[in-house]
Amino acid sequence: MSSEPPSDSRSQLPIRPLPFARRNELRLGHAFAFGWDEGHLDAGPDADFDALYETDRTRCAFDGDTVVGTVGVYSLQMTVPGGAAVPTAGTTAIAVRPTHRRRGLLRRLMTAHFDEVRERGEPLSALWASDSGIYRRFGYGEAAGRSSDKIDRAHTALLDVEAPAGGQCRMIDKDEAQRLLPGAYDRARLQRPGMMARSEDWWESRVLKDAVWSRNGGTPLRRVIYEREGVAYGYLLYRTRNERTNMHALVIELVAADGDAERALYRLACNIDLVADVTFWNQPVDSPLSLLLASPRRLEREVHDALWVRLMQIPEALTARRYAGSGQLLLGVRDAFLPENEGVYSLECEDGRASCKRVANSDADVALDVADLGAAYLGGVRFQTLARAGRANGTPEALRRADTLFPSDLTPWCPEIF
Ligand SMILES: CC(C)(COP(=O)(O)OP(=O)(O)OC[C@H]1O[C@@H](n2cnc3c(N)ncnc32)[C@H](O)[C@@H]1OP(=O)(O)O)[C@@H](O)C(=O)NCCC(=O)NCCS
Repeated sequence: MSSEPPSDSRSQLPIRPLPFARRNELRLGHAFAFGWDEGHLDAGPDADFDALYETDRTRCAFDGDTVVGTVGVYSLQMTVPGGAAVPTAGTTAIAVRPTHRRRGLLRRLMTAHFDEVRERGEPLSALWASDSGIYRRFGYGEAAGRSSDKIDRAHTALLDVEAPAGGQCRMIDKDEAQRLLPGAYDRARLQRPGMMARSEDWWESRVLKDAVWSRNGGTPLRRVIYEREGVAYGYLLYRTRNERTNMHALVIELVAADGDAERALYRLACNIDLVADVTFWNQPVDSPLSLLLASPRRLEREVHDALWVRLMQIPEALTARRYAGSGQLLLGVRDAFLPENEGVYSLECEDGRASCKRVANSDADVALDVADLGAAYLGGVRFQTLARAGRANGTPEALRRADTLFPSDLTPWCPEIF
């Protein structure tokens, strides 16, 4: 690998796609950015990376012939309130070389990225942020949180709630997981805003592969399916890890399409024997775990930002989702990074379906930044809460009207980092 040449004019560095044959240079950039050992690159092509990597959508900054900044995309379909799966640019692989930081390269990469997303016509973009201070300036709002839960095994006793009727859990091997998990996942996905459709390659490379390096010293993946009358409604993926004298259980994914499946799977996770504690690294913020526990205060719960959403095309994004009932709202949107989006949008909802158009010479009922509309879009953040934080303006009546229209039944959640 060559080292980067010195440059005095970094703001002029060209930005262009990366040829597929040079994809290892993007992976090297990630090693520098995220603290990985680049030694594995010597092993040659990575089939999992190649299966999902979209070369034509990558944009890179070049200093001479050296790749010094990258942004990539997964072409995703994200569930929005009402159950539609909406084309979403899954923004990923953002890294600028340590030698080239804080000179505006990310800003220029995001501009090139948004140009490409708009050419494709995707109404939404979404990402996970390495640092929660970075992406608001580019129009992303914190749309879905994650609850990180840990419970000491001595306190995992559950309330004696009614046992799920008729269903049962069983352990399955990888072949069965490949067959059964996608159906259970999709049953849950279409109800939960923020969940992404998974291709066969995504299931294999990102969920079920279970490479030894990815286990972090833990056991192979344990896979449990919950079925009722021959249909899979949920599953649990976990591993255990021995640390000195203690064993710990780490839940990788618990996905459930209904309350019976959810209770059965939490019951199973809370009854793993011989472990000191059970950790659920990423649960929906409305996870019922604390309500199931006999001693709920024993649950150690941390809630963090997780999925950030940006509206790329405001009318298309707003009409893709469903609303609660009927009503009208004039939304005044500021968008400093994509000023062509700025304006007042009239949202007319009838029995849940909406039409939306930009209107001239109208005062907004609710005025806010596009990042805050992104935060509220999936129904997880209320307009009245945004107003309390000084991030939305409107009369109390208008804010209440917005909150009546926008909620979702389930809290937005994204079970995976990308
Ligand atoms: C984050 C990273 C891509 C920023 O690249 P960069 O070229 O230095 O960013 P820019 O110079 O274009 O800065 C754009 C803006 O973001 C701000 N910013 C950059 N990194 C930031 C951070 N970690 N936290 C908060 N703000 C940050 C800059 O201050 C600048 O603000 P301004 O627009 O108000 O002037 C780079 O530091 C990096 O590669 N970090 C390690 C990998 C990583 O975290 N990637 C993000 C994965 S989601």
